[in-house]
Amino acid sequence: MNYFEYRHDQLCAEDIPIAELARRFGTPFYVYSARTLRRHFRVFDEAFAGTDHLICFAMKALSNLSILKLFASMGAGFDIVSGGELMRCLRVGADPGKIVFSGVGKTDEEIAAALTARILMINVESGPELHHINQVAGRMQFRAPVSLRVNPDLDPGTHPHISTGHRDSKFGVPLAQVHEYYAEARGLPNLELVGLSTHIGSQITDTAPFNEAAEKVKAIVSGLRSAGVALKYLDLGGGLGIPYQEEPPAPAEYARVLLKPIRDLGLRIITEPGRVIVGNAGIFVTRVLYVKETDVKRFIVIDGAMNDLIRPVLYEAYHEIRPVDRRNPGKPVVADVVGPVCESGDFLARERELAEPKTGDLLAVMSAGAYGFVMASNYNSRPRAAEILVDDTDAHLIRERDTFEDLIRGEKIVELRSR
Ligand code: LLP
Repeated sequence: MNYFEYRHDQLCAEDIPIAELARRFGTPFYVYSARTLRRHFRVFDEAFAGTDHLICFAMKALSNLSILKLFASMGAGFDIVSGGELMRCLRVGADPGKIVFSGVGKTDEEIAAALTARILMINVESGPELHHINQVAGRMQFRAPVSLRVNPDLDPGTHPHISTGHRDSKFGVPLAQVHEYYAEARGLPNLELVGLSTHIGSQITDTAPFNEAAEKVKAIVSGLRSAGVALKYLDLGGGLGIPYQEEPPAPAEYARVLLKPIRDLGLRIITEPGRVIVGNAGIFVTRVLYVKETDVKRFIVIDGAMNDLIRPVLYEAYHEIRPVDRRNPGKPVVADVVGPVCESGDFLARERELAEPKTGDLLAVMSAGAYGFVMASNYNSRPRAAEILVDDTDAHLIRERDTFEDLIRGEKIVELRSR
């Protein structure tokens, strides 16, 4: 469910025609729908109604300050993975007491910044990290609230690059060693053991792996209880998929399956959804530059590229592509939709059936709100696209398109003698 719909055959973001945004802001751009963002957050939140819970939006999916501000105002916490993400949260006045810090490679500076900000907890992913946090906290005369991230060793059935719950992945500590790690952590004076966390992967479209993870986690919590370790929080990560093409379960069904084994543990349940909240709340809009035909293939060359949206080449991801104006559709064709970047991997769609557009037409790449702009780069010295947030009839420019000056910010020209 989202608010990108056709009105009189013209695609709109809420009450604004996309074509109007293109005239006003130029292309390419990302546009997000505030109505959709609010709705998705609410639906997810309501799925956990009746259970003591906290939703920590996985801001790696979309981290524009205006979006974070919106979620913070709705009571969201945040799942962060870097000092930069912490800075963004603090910049919008997010409640540090609702921030969890995940990731396998936290630096001393990042740990210290998180402790100074007094975040809810640090999700620890290894033995050395436990000791490190203990040292940093000791120097600061703090007790660091930590949770241990366990690797439940299961297959979430998603793309290997976004699967994290396998035994051979870099994430979390092995299930079999969780007790040892907790015993070790209890001996470290500057740590306070407050939780257990896990995250099994992303774009998961079946409830079974979530249930399996919850069952495994439950067994650990029970075992720890018998050993005298009382925890407060159970963080089950994110990972619920969205309908790019597939049909994932609704948040209510996901929550039902996830909570079933663990509801009675009496712990506060934390989740870290990213994609399911923002994925379908954003689209990427690009203009057709040329339609190029060779003797074997047809290419639609657009002004957006892999530097704007890397998902298709990185994960073989499918994003629906729609015409912004469908009043006079071209003939049905099969084409690759490609950008100007000098790489064969620069495509947003391959062998796609669509109505043949003309030079100057606008195309909308759907479901681009999650892991779209945040993964953009300046490759080929291409300015990153603008970001726009639509709220009913208002369109806010929430990030300006990079300028050429932005591209060289921080660079120095050193004059070397030619030899
Ligand atoms: N929590 C942790 C610890 C994570 O690593 C992630 C995602 C999430 C939560 C949020 O997962 P979500 O609810 O969004 O599935 N760039 C990839 C996705 C990478 C996901 C990384 N971790 C993509 O474009 O598909």
